[in-house]
Amino acid sequence: MNNIIFDFIGGKTGDWKVLKTTTLIGDSLPNVTHIDKMQSSFINRFEGTWSLKGVISSLRYTEKEENEKLKAKQPDLGRKKATYAAFIPIKKNEAWWNLAQDERRKIMENQSKHIQHGMKYLPAIARQLFHSRDIDEPFDFLTWFEFAPEDEPAFNELLGIMRQSEEWKYVEREIDIRMVRM
Ligand code: HEM
Repeated sequence: MNNIIFDFIGGKTGDWKVLKTTTLIGDSLPNVTHIDKMQSSFINRFEGTWSLKGVISSLRYTEKEENEKLKAKQPDLGRKKATYAAFIPIKKNEAWWNLAQDERRKIMENQSKHIQHGMKYLPAIARQLFHSRDIDEPFDFLTWFEFAPEDEPAFNELLGIMRQSEEWKYVEREIDIRMVRM
């Protein structure tokens, strides 16, 4: 799946119906009622309000042992019971990008425990990270999560922890869009 470009299209139609949009920091996006997630090469005609592109890329910070634990625990997207989804585009600031890779890993994991905390919410939450920074997009990351309606409180709890973390001090734009599968 590496290097395949995906489009997240916000508009009036799509597989996912928007329930709520919250702009946490930075500029918002125009409101839409539906979102479609598809491989860019499959799009023949763009009819949406906006489109955000991202690629599934290689890991930057995850260490071997963490990766093995993740692989054992993380579910695939598209589970029947996971009828809720969250699409959260994120942009980090210049201070973050000016750090060296090892400094960023320290903030993300030693100080913020992103992976350690996140792991506790698997397999309830299925996730996929898309990278956008290197393809000249408005956000650095597009994050996508799927879960059953009864696991929404747990997902919100995890987000609460993350948004209090050192890592999130570097977030300058974040929009949280919640959806239900049509
Ligand atoms: C559900 C449990 C979660 C797990 C297991 C998890 C795990 C991970 C891992 C392993 C990485 C590092 C990828 C790499 O090595 O490059 C990562 C990156 C990231 N995650 Fe999570 N995560 C979770 C939830 C979240 C949530 C709720 C958010 C909030 C939107 C989030 C946002 C991000 C972002 C933006 C990155 C990229 C960070 C960067 O490269 O600077 N994650 N996550």
